[in-house]
Amino acid sequence: MHAMEKSEFLPSCSADTIKRAAQSLINGNLVAFPTETVYGLGADALNSSAVARIYDVKGRPHDHPLIVHVQDLNAIDEWVKEIPEYAIQLARDFWPGPMTLILNRSKIAGDFITGGQDTVGIRIPDHPIALALLNSFHEMGGNGVAAPSANRFGHVSPTSAQAVSQEIADHMRDSDMILDGGACKVGVESTIIDCSRNLPVILRPGAISVEMIEESIQMKIKVNWRLSNVRVSGMLEKHYSPISKVFLDQTPLAGQGFLALSNIETPPGVVRLGTPINTEEFAQMLYQSLRRADELKLESLVVQQPKGEGLAIAIRDRLSKAVNGR
Ligand code: TXA
Ligand code: MG
Repeated sequence: MHAMEKSEFLPSCSADTIKRAAQSLINGNLVAFPTETVYGLGADALNSSAVARIYDVKGRPHDHPLIVHVQDLNAIDEWVKEIPEYAIQLARDFWPGPMTLILNRSKIAGDFITGGQDTVGIRIPDHPIALALLNSFHEMGGNGVAAPSANRFGHVSPTSAQAVSQEIADHMRDSDMILDGGACKVGVESTIIDCSRNLPVILRPGAISVEMIEESIQMKIKVNWRLSNVRVSGMLEKHYSPISKVFLDQTPLAGQGFLALSNIETPPGVVRLGTPINTEEFAQMLYQSLRRADELKLESLVVQQPKGEGLAIAIRDRLSKAVNGR
């Protein structure tokens, strides 16, 4: 078996490729992999020096906690204690899926994962390559893969293997890998729900909406993605930002980039970055469109935000942070 180049994509992701990637994680290397939300940059969650490299590659402050990705519900018990009944219900209804639960941590969840907090973020992603990787890693004796979004700190999350490479390949080693699973289906990061107390609190909106959560657990929940004092890096005001300056809900001028639903026309001279037909497609295209503006070296772009609830809330949340620029 020859050494993997960091720039080498593995588009086929054969069973053999997945095994090599899992072995690479066991050996303490980094593996970027697709999930249904965005691409993650993974490391063995029990290996502090492997996890430290995630922070170096991302340029992320060390006190920002990481999400531990596991293959099934059985794997969760080891990471957490005192799971409230409502969290078990959420796990049953939405995992594998675009949801992260913040739970009280067990001893194996080290400070280097949780940023020193008493809670740990857990997710079972709904993507065949991610699940195959996690299963293979587990079969080799591994237990949990820590993975933030595979972008440099403060940048736009990658939704394709090419975007991962543009973001971080320069910071990766030859023994690290990037698995190519094509474009991400959801396109924005998971809904984060703090389940460490009696009542759940949504910390980051995503594809699992307030309505879906309330329906699942039959209780009203608190939404707190602006006010929480929990350290969630996505809650910094400046985040998810392209270099191109983002303006919201204005009429674009000639030379500006433009992202809007397909029923909205492109004014003359404006560079259309995307024409999604509905909110789901809008989310899928969002980050790729912001990246395109940078590739085209556009000074600025305008986004007509989708209205309504559900995923539209997640899109507006990310855009409000992208506006603050870098
Ligand atoms: O969809 C996703 O969640 C993607 C994919 C790769 O799974 N991951 C992702 O990770 O977006 P990241 O690190 O870019 O964003 C996760 C957020 C961070 O802002 C982090 O601060 C927060 O989750 N987080 C993680 N553990 C936490 C904890 N114990 N308490 C509060 N926030 C936590
Ligand atoms: Mg991120």
